[in-house]
Amino acid sequence: MSDIVARLSEALGSEVVTPGGQAPEGAMHDWSGLPPVRPLALVRPRDTEDVAIALRLCNESGTAVVPQGGLSGISGGAHPIESAVSISLERMNRIEAIDPEMSTITLGAGTVLQTAQEAAAEHGLLLGVDLGARGSCTIGGVIATNAGGNQVIRYGMTRDHVLGLEAVLADGTIVSAMNTMIKNNAGLDLKQLFIGSEGLLGIVTRAVMRLQPRPAFTGTAFCGCPDTASVIALLKRARAALGPQLTSFEVMWPSFFDFMSAGTGLKRPLAASHGVYVIIEASGFAEAPLRTALESCLETAIEDGEVGDAVLASSAREEKQLWAVRESVAEYGRLLGPITAFDVGVPLANMADAVSRLEAELVARWPDIIALFYGHMGDSNLHLVANVPSAGDDQPDADIKSLVYGLIRDLGGTVSAEHGIGVIKRDYLGYSRSTEEIATMRAVKSALDPKNIMNPGKGFST
Ligand code: FAD
Ligand code: LAC
Ligand code: ZN
Repeated sequence: MSDIVARLSEALGSEVVTPGGQAPEGAMHDWSGLPPVRPLALVRPRDTEDVAIALRLCNESGTAVVPQGGLSGISGGAHPIESAVSISLERMNRIEAIDPEMSTITLGAGTVLQTAQEAAAEHGLLLGVDLGARGSCTIGGVIATNAGGNQVIRYGMTRDHVLGLEAVLADGTIVSAMNTMIKNNAGLDLKQLFIGSEGLLGIVTRAVMRLQPRPAFTGTAFCGCPDTASVIALLKRARAALGPQLTSFEVMWPSFFDFMSAGTGLKRPLAASHGVYVIIEASGFAEAPLRTALESCLETAIEDGEVGDAVLASSAREEKQLWAVRESVAEYGRLLGPITAFDVGVPLANMADAVSRLEAELVARWPDIIALFYGHMGDSNLHLVANVPSAGDDQPDADIKSLVYGLIRDLGGTVSAEHGIGVIKRDYLGYSRSTEEIATMRAVKSALDPKNIMNPGKGFST
């Protein structure tokens, strides 16, 4: 046993510290598709004090640390490092309080997102963060990646929901900033440093999240549109017709929709084929006006040719069916094998160009490529998942990335709209951030983590 593992075991006990050799298979990888790695040790703290002890000992010995939540991250931020100690927050999953007057939930960073959503719902409230990995991702991971998801168009990114948090710095210092108020301008808003920091600045241990009134009614429509330009016109129309009731605007190009519906055997909501498919979800507090606004939005969109055909759900079961293919992304591994995945952002004016040029250029380079396009288009966020069947396990990952990120840079986009940089986008951070921005990020890191023990080699770290 290495010195640091022995010291951690002595300080925290075998209940908390598992030597790398005994770490479970599930702790050796996240969802990035990177090959499994056995960490030096897996530490599963019971409370903030355990986290502080673990970090202090790692910092003293200069041992690297990888913070882990639900391991649903796609960029490799939580992927273990062989010479590093993984610190998993999975045990720190207590919902401490829900305050209906302040509309807040206070909870441990290891709480699974869906558990937090359900706890809020029991009080007639809503946590406005939702994503496909809701059943496994944790509040700490969602905060550390500033996760997006399916309701950003209405409720914003995770950043918009965090009121306060507690974090432990690399040297074990506990910074408690558990603010519960919407307004608090007393000095720097330190929580912002940790939101979206991908575990590079400290470990988030607890948080206070803002809750929303829970809309009583939802309306969900599945639309077939002729092309991407019509979808952009439809988005503008839906915003005007539904205002803040517009909750999701999810887009699937046929590459994604046809492949995933055939592969999963899920029912297609519309019989005919269309150029692009859109899910519009609206939610509100009065049923009739919501329904009328959604219906008239669709009617006028059909009259003006933005929508070819549409179906409206008339029950919660039908709503689920309209979402089913969009929600089937966890099936990629089974249906495609190894993939190169993207979460780029593109200004809407360039979206149609981005999709058509990427499709054409990818096929020209790899004629048998399967390239699935879909995304949270209401947030200018485009997903692309690619597999070249003829390449088998040896996917031309680097060449696909270089083609896609090069084009996205030229179109004024970002290399990451929601999943973060992690390991797999490190070479491309400079496509979206200037040298000065990256130097400032590193200056913040070296102030908080002078020995660079937190997730070294990931994100913007050196
Ligand atoms: P992990 O994967 O464990 O970690 C992610 C990063 O956060 C790592 O850098 C890690 O070091 C750091 N971290 C984790 N916990 C802490 C902590 N307590 N303190 C400090 N750092 C920490 N993402 C979206 O944004 N939108 C989507 O729509 C979306 N859909 C998805 C659908 C599926 C099927 C899957 C598998 C993933 C999806 N994701 C999506 C990606 C992923 O779920 C999110 O990035 C999520 O926020 C990761 O949470 P996690 O708890 O699994 O974090
Ligand atoms: C999604 C994930 C992959 O939106 O971000 O499906
Ligand atoms: Zn997404």
